[in-house]
Amino acid sequence: MRLQGKTALITGAARGIGLEFARAYIAEGASVAIADINFSAAQTAAASLGPQAHPIALDVTRQDSIDAAFAEVAGKMGHLDILINNAALFTAAPIVEITRADYDKLFAVNVAGTLFCLQAAARHMIPRGRGTIINMASQAGRRGEGLVAVYCATKAAVISLTQSAGLDLIKHGINVNAIAPGVVDGEHWDGVDAFFAKYEGKAPGQKKREVGAAVPFGRMGTAADLTGMAIFLATDEAKYIVAQCFGVDGGNWMA
Ligand SMILES: NC(=O)c1ccc[n+]([C@@H]2O[C@H](COP(=O)([O-])OP(=O)(O)OC[C@H]3O[C@@H](n4cnc5c(N)ncnc54)[C@H](O)[C@@H]3O)[C@@H](O)[C@H]2O)c1
Repeated sequence: MRLQGKTALITGAARGIGLEFARAYIAEGASVAIADINFSAAQTAAASLGPQAHPIALDVTRQDSIDAAFAEVAGKMGHLDILINNAALFTAAPIVEITRADYDKLFAVNVAGTLFCLQAAARHMIPRGRGTIINMASQAGRRGEGLVAVYCATKAAVISLTQSAGLDLIKHGINVNAIAPGVVDGEHWDGVDAFFAKYEGKAPGQKKREVGAAVPFGRMGTAADLTGMAIFLATDEAKYIVAQCFGVDGGNWMA
């Protein structure tokens, strides 16, 4: 029960990694706001997790939605100890086919969404003099990929925001760090696989098998592989860790 009595808001927690983080946090004693643009999925997810889970409607691209969600969390849960900036979109295209609409949408969710949720959380946490903010980066933020320029750029921006916010907020007792997963199986990667099927002429499922086989650990990651780091970063044991980005990727980026 390492997070006993703590409260957390996880964006994009209706499925995938965010949902697994919520499950792990609740198992450690936390109460968790399951905040997602897909509110009905957030309600279903929260119902499956029990009374410590609270579904919240949140579109991280809209300031009014961010303000309302954080106010609702403060009303329902009293205070906020932990924010996980997890909501994100993915897209892939060769450089000459990237559309401005895709660029704007990804930067709105992955970068502006991260910054302004982080800002809202910091405003709640500063008066209490403590807090934990975890941003979901990616190995994609640490190097380019020919077909994935926009997503890689958004995740590089998430790492940069983590560094600046980490430096600015530690004087208030707020630790800001990031997790950089490698390739994590789930609905998100089903979508990634479909992009590679389109652009590299691969059969459905082929890219997934290839990336899994290439991971030094020997397989794709699972959302459960990431929960240990997400829990640790929210404990007092991590309080001297500031502005870092941790790869949890089976050795994938290093390879
Ligand atoms: N799956 C991977 O292989 C992988 C690898 C590296 C990094 N990541 C990162 O981990 C995080 C979680 O990934 P995942 O695989 O669980 O993704 P996912 O696509 O399964 O889940 C994303 C969630 O975000 C929600 N969302 C989308 N737009 C939103 C918005 N505007 N406001 C609020 N919620 C919104 C979606 O409804 C969904 O529930 C993301 O930041 C992703 O970039 C994932």
